[in-house]
Amino acid sequence: MGTDRIERFKRERELLNKIVMKYAGLTTKRFYSLDGQAYRPGALPARIKELLGLVASLVLRCDDCVSYHLIRCHEEKVTSQELEEALAVGLVVGGSITIPHLRRAMRTWDELQQASTSVAPLPAHYAALLRTVATIAEWPYERDRRLQAVCNLLKEQVPYYDWVGFYLAEGENMLVLGPFAGEPTEHVRIPFGKGVCGQAAAQRKTVVVQDVAKEQNYLACSLQVKSEIVVPLLRDGLVLGELDIDSHTLAAFSEAEQRFLEEVCRVLLPLWD
Ligand code: SME
Repeated sequence: MGTDRIERFKRERELLNKIVMKYAGLTTKRFYSLDGQAYRPGALPARIKELLGLVASLVLRCDDCVSYHLIRCHEEKVTSQELEEALAVGLVVGGSITIPHLRRAMRTWDELQQASTSVAPLPAHYAALLRTVATIAEWPYERDRRLQAVCNLLKEQVPYYDWVGFYLAEGENMLVLGPFAGEPTEHVRIPFGKGVCGQAAAQRKTVVVQDVAKEQNYLACSLQVKSEIVVPLLRDGLVLGELDIDSHTLAAFSEAEQRFLEEVCRVLLPLWD
């Protein structure tokens, strides 16, 4: 029930942002980009910036903004104690008029906490694949060779993974094609924001497109592709690269699978040490 509400909130926010962007002029676009920039990790890590955004949103009594920052704080692994201390600052600054917003904030946080503890375990097949990925990650070979082995493994072991590849970040705005298994692609360099890959990099989160025909910001590799998942490899909020999988099957990627692929990326992070 609770997670439904959060999922609905996320979907609506995304949809409304798309509509804003349909009509947006330069000022609106620049403001949006400035907003994204302000929360990128700098001297302050992303989680502290999200807590700051949360406190400011509580004081200004914007429920949507509070919900958004709570979701981001949860993604950035803020603890309940840290969150409570930040909200207490907001309460003291904003006064008792913020209490109704504080109540709703705590309900949302509680739902986020419960959702993350009630996640189903990975199916056995994914668990076995994950162990093999962990073994490959420790091979004493250069990074690309290990990434290539992971691509081959996933493509061979999951029948509906038709293209499996990594894009590696070049600076903070460009993705460059790395090792892959499947047909060669013309999309060798993809700027952040462009296509499904660019969206995952810009938003620093997994993007699943269950029907690519319905996705406007999509770079076609082959007409056979029906669905796609892109999982960013993140360290301290910085994009190091991405795992991109195309499928010739419509709606190929389940939520459990998304969690599995996010685990694959987490296991591969030491390759960037
Ligand atoms: N479809 C991707 C481009 C990369 S290929 O899938 C290999 C996108 O829209 O970003």
